[in-house]
Amino acid sequence: MINLILLGLPGAGKGTASERIVDEFHLAHISTGDMFREAIANETPVGLEAKSYIDNGNLVPDEVTAKLVEERLQQKDTEKGFILDGFPRTTVQAELLEDITKRLDKRLTNVISIDVSEDVLIKRLSARYMCKACGATYNKISNPTKVEGKCDRCGGSEFYQRDDDKPEVVKNRLEVNKKMNTPLKDFYDKKGILSSVNGEQTPDKVFEEIYDILKK
Ligand code: AP5
Repeated sequence: MINLILLGLPGAGKGTASERIVDEFHLAHISTGDMFREAIANETPVGLEAKSYIDNGNLVPDEVTAKLVEERLQQKDTEKGFILDGFPRTTVQAELLEDITKRLDKRLTNVISIDVSEDVLIKRLSARYMCKACGATYNKISNPTKVEGKCDRCGGSEFYQRDDDKPEVVKNRLEVNKKMNTPLKDFYDKKGILSSVNGEQTPDKVFEEIYDILKK
């Protein structure tokens, strides 16, 4: 059983790695960013609350985010293992997650940090684009569609840039997340379940390192 947290700054490749991990290990993928974007699109109360934080590159309050994760972790598909992508992001969220996993009897097995330097992240985020139909993520520089203008996954031909990938928002997102990243890594290092991978390699190589950790 693998119950995994993927840590990493915005653009580190958590979503990209999650896709491959899900294919290989068949885990439930829980991305708080995706959950918030869906809630915003559906104009739910959580979505309406989250929108102003996300649009400005700030974090949604800890309790709101933790409640969403607790509800998601109660769903059946998480019983065979899960990946938390983008949660926790603060030590308060990490403490709340400790309580949640105890309550639900779903012990964390691995925490993997994908490490990438800030200048690489800025370049990556400004070059990221998404398929409008299926949400697949691409990158103009490092990971374009195989056929120009056609989504590899669904064949869609319309793409968009995330609002929070615009340069003025990216700067604040990185600042906010950088402050939290080291304490969070220390938190899991002390528990003896933290591993780190070099996120500045190709996505295939990043996945190979993660695969080796998870197979142990
Ligand atoms: P979220 O959607 O989680 O954004 P994020 O953490 O900023 O992460 P990203 O999705 O931007 O990046 P990623 O690491 O998944 O990278 P990706 O694989 O796409 O959260 C959005 C917002 O929601 C937050 O700002 C916050 O407001 C709110 N929120 C979410 N969780 C929260 C929480 N727990 N608490 C409070 N608020 C929360 O890759 C990036 C690009 O690089 C892509 O173009 C990809 O193709 C490319 N790429 C990936 N890997 C590689 C590689 N190895 N080499 C080259 N290019 C690569």
